[in-house]
Parts: sequence; structure tokens; C-alpha cells
Amino acid sequence: MTETTAATKAAPNRLLALWSSVIGKKVIMAVTGAVLILFVLAHMVGNLKIFSGPEEINAYSRFLREVGWPELGYGQLLWIVRSVLFVCAILHITAATQLTILNRQARPVEYESRKNVETTWGAMTMRWGGVLLAVFIVFHLFHFTGGMVGFQPGQFEHLMVYQNVVAGFQVWPISLFYIIAMGALCLHLDHGIWSMLQTLGWVNLDNTKSLRGVSRVVALIIFAGFISVPISVLAGWVR
Ligand code: HEM
Repeated sequence: MTETTAATKAAPNRLLALWSSVIGKKVIMAVTGAVLILFVLAHMVGNLKIFSGPEEINAYSRFLREVGWPELGYGQLLWIVRSVLFVCAILHITAATQLTILNRQARPVEYESRKNVETTWGAMTMRWGGVLLAVFIVFHLFHFTGGMVGFQPGQFEHLMVYQNVVAGFQVWPISLFYIIAMGALCLHLDHGIWSMLQTLGWVNLDNTKSLRGVSRVVALIIFAGFISVPISVLAGWVR
């Protein structure tokens, strides 16, 4: 066997070994989490265009579909991004579920003395917050991407993001659900970014405090950026 063939054969085996080990699953969670955080940050910044008026944000929505033309067809880059996000979300959730199961198998009975430990609280909010976020994302896609829920018949118009967001958030229970989900996202990111930095080996004795602070500040910025939209619609500042 040539060296190249041996290397090609070894690559999938290495990937499989990575997926099978606990540290490998953690690395996969960290890397896919990083991709998802970048998307969330970009999405939050894009949403803030609503404060510049309807033309600006509606043009941005068209741009997201037209970008890459003529090399790429209408919406093709968007579909590539959607596929990457979908794969990352599935890998992230699968690795998290498997790690939870492995953790339970390793320690079926909770240590009495550890019940109040911070990591246990962190892990609990990560799991249930993660489930809430998954429910939120499915609802969100049916809501603002598909216009299939939360709108009167004929109210939702494709590519009219400004009008859709204003009409969508005038339904206060939906706005409240978004704000609660953004709270869950904030908690998830606060702990998640910190875990990611640890898994990737970027935390040491000198930077522990500052990197913990960075995780918290990023999570809070994302929270404030997202909730500013439903709050502004409910308050009548954006209408
Ligand atoms: C207040 C918070 C949010 C608002 C107002 C909002 C608004 C929107 C709008 C208007 C669209 C449709 C854009 C278009 O069709 O051009 C959209 C799409 C989307 N949003 Fe959000 N979003 C929020 C939070 C989130 C969060 C927290 C996530 C993920 C964790 C998320 C993930 C997505 C995804 C995956 C899409 C579909 C993109 C696509 O494939 O077209 N959104 N959002």
C-alpha cells in the first residue's frame, strides 16, 4: 500500500476514533458551537438593521439571497450556509446527548455532596436550555422564515422582513416567548463559550478570570441585541 492510500484510509478511522471518545465529542461540541455562535452574532447584527428602517433590512434580506451571483444562483449561498448550520446543529445536539448518557452511566447516583456544585447547575441549564432553544428554532423557522404560524392569513410577505417582524412581535405572547428563549440562549452561551474555550485549551491560570468575563459579556451583548427588537416593537418605537 502506498503512503497516500494508507493516509487516506487512516483519516476516516481517525474521525471515527475522535467521535467515539469523550474528548472527541467535546471537541466536536466546541467546534460546532463556535460555528453556531458566529451565525448567532451575524444574525443579531443583521437584525439591528431594523432600526435603520424598512428599506435597509428588506434590502439586506434580498442581498442574502443574491450574494455570490453570477457565480452562484439565487439563494444558493444561503442554502450552503443553511446546510452547514443544520449539520453543525445536529452534530452539536447528538454529541451533547451522548455525553449526557455517558455521564449518567458513569455516575448513576448523584453524589449528595455535589448537589449544589456550580457545574451541576451549569450542566442542568445547558441541557434544558438547549432543549428550549431547539424548540424555539423550529418555531422561529415556521414563524419568520415560513410565515406559517403567528400571522393572520395573507399578513406575512416573503422578503418583507421589516413588516413581518413588526406584525409578528405585535402579538405579545410571541414576543414574550422570544424574550424568554433569548434568556435561555444567553445562559447557554454564558456557560457554552466558557466550556468551548476550556475544551480548546485556551484557558490557563493567567487568563481564567478575563476569559470567564469575555464569555459573560458576549452572552449579554447577544441577549441585549436580540431582545431589543421585540421590546422596541412592543413599545411602539419600531412600527
Ligand atoms: C429576537 C430575536 C430574533 C429575530 C427578530 C429574528 C428574526 C429573523 C427573521 C426576520 C428571519 C427571516 C430572515 C429572512 O427571511 O430574510 C430569521 C431567520 C432565521 N433565524 Fe432568526 N431571529 C431572532 C433570533 C434567532 C436566534 C436566536 C436564532 C438561532 C439561535 C435564529 C436563527 C434563525 C435561522 C436559522 C433563520 C433562517 C435563516 C434562513 O435560512 O433563511 N434567529 N430570523
